[in-house]
Amino acid sequence: MTPTRRDILRMASGLAASAVATSMPTFAALARGPGGSPSVPSFLSGHFRPVFDEATAFDLPVRGAIPPVLSGRYFRNGHNPKEGINPGAWFYGSGMIHGLRISGGRAEWYRNRWVKTPALLEGKPLFTDQGTIDLTASAAGTSVIAHAGRILALQEVNLPFEITPELETLGAYDFGGALTTMMTAHPKVCPRTGEMLFFGNSPLAPHLTYHVADARGALIHSEVIDGPAASIIHDFAITENYVIWFDPSAVLDLGLNQPFPYDWNDKYPARIGVMPRDRSKGGVRWIDVPSFYALHFANAWEDAEGKIIVEGPYFDRLAWDSALDFINGVAAHGAPPADGCVRGQWRIDPKAGTATVALLDDLTVEFPTINLAHTGRESRYVYACSFPGAGQRGCGIVKYDVRSGERALLTLPDGVMAGEPCFVPDPAGTAEDHGWLLTYVGDLRSNAAELWILDATRIEAGPVAAIELPVWVPAGVHGSWIDDLAI
Ligand SMILES: [Fe+2]
Repeated sequence: MTPTRRDILRMASGLAASAVATSMPTFAALARGPGGSPSVPSFLSGHFRPVFDEATAFDLPVRGAIPPVLSGRYFRNGHNPKEGINPGAWFYGSGMIHGLRISGGRAEWYRNRWVKTPALLEGKPLFTDQGTIDLTASAAGTSVIAHAGRILALQEVNLPFEITPELETLGAYDFGGALTTMMTAHPKVCPRTGEMLFFGNSPLAPHLTYHVADARGALIHSEVIDGPAASIIHDFAITENYVIWFDPSAVLDLGLNQPFPYDWNDKYPARIGVMPRDRSKGGVRWIDVPSFYALHFANAWEDAEGKIIVEGPYFDRLAWDSALDFINGVAAHGAPPADGCVRGQWRIDPKAGTATVALLDDLTVEFPTINLAHTGRESRYVYACSFPGAGQRGCGIVKYDVRSGERALLTLPDGVMAGEPCFVPDPAGTAEDHGWLLTYVGDLRSNAAELWILDATRIEAGPVAAIELPVWVPAGVHGSWIDDLAI
């Protein structure tokens, strides 16, 4: 199961050949069309059509009214290769962050900037001649977060890249030399301690390393976690007392004839691991579960009986295959996850060593989020993107009430798609959902993009403010609200 360095070198040369072979001379022209083309990979067409210029604009026009208490930045990352380059798979495209500065009811500026990594600037390859991964050769395109006063662009197989509040790249960030592994794009910041908990998941052994940075940003704990082989652990969950690992059925397969070298494997022993956050209280208890995949988790918490509840979209084999088609660029495919990935709720008994999952809706959803002040403790509301029409039509934003099971839905017209919603709390709010959802919205009908601000208590009413952007913003991946107080 564990690849050798020879295997990795073979994979690396295969990926490089794939990228060259699929670079199309006519690609740039094709990609300019608003609707893409059947011959252009899914992740470079339609809503994902990249942009090739860095733009700056001030005092943007707004329909509606921006809540005057919002004072900060909304940054969102995504994979956006340079003109003429087909990276072969969605995740290999270079990171570009789209940022908006909001203050005093105004949209002060918009900027889009590539993260200037050696991979972008010099074509530095991910794998070294020795078959190891170069942690600085990052696409830096998966997420962007702020912690302890630093803003970090993240890609899960590399070090973070630090950027400025104006989106200029400062360079790879290794916590003062303390971080020697890759860093997930889904760290969790504990609202109680201010710590940032994260991990590195590598195709090479050791496959999983756990890290904790304290509230001031110092890396205070690193520990290899034994158990997983070369599976994709993209996200994890935390509660007040536990870290929860999901070791899924998507595993590295170097024999695959596809750019992204992972696939579903029923023979892989899928497990869920429960690990005390207090590392003096023992190791991971691994619980065998049926084959599954999960890309993202909304939240986790412990109930009154000590059971662990985890909310997040659940992938069966069909949903995995559909998402994999998108990642590998199958032409005219809609959007990830595209089909069959629905709201799941895991119930884990850490003492009995049991875990079950219930599927609680039939709507295809992904990119879940919550009010992050509830990270690790009970959260009543989960927000997500909805993709009922295989990513081609009827996209929207959904809000689940975990307590009642009800859902509210904002359905968008065909040709319009919203990205991951980002919850920003109202400082004067008294309920968990008192705040706003921010999301970039692309409209293929007008070839225009906007930043929408939704009232999180009534998302179905549509935006309370729509900030009109001067350029196209491709659909992307993850982002953050960075309050002025955070930097
Ligand atoms: Fe992610």
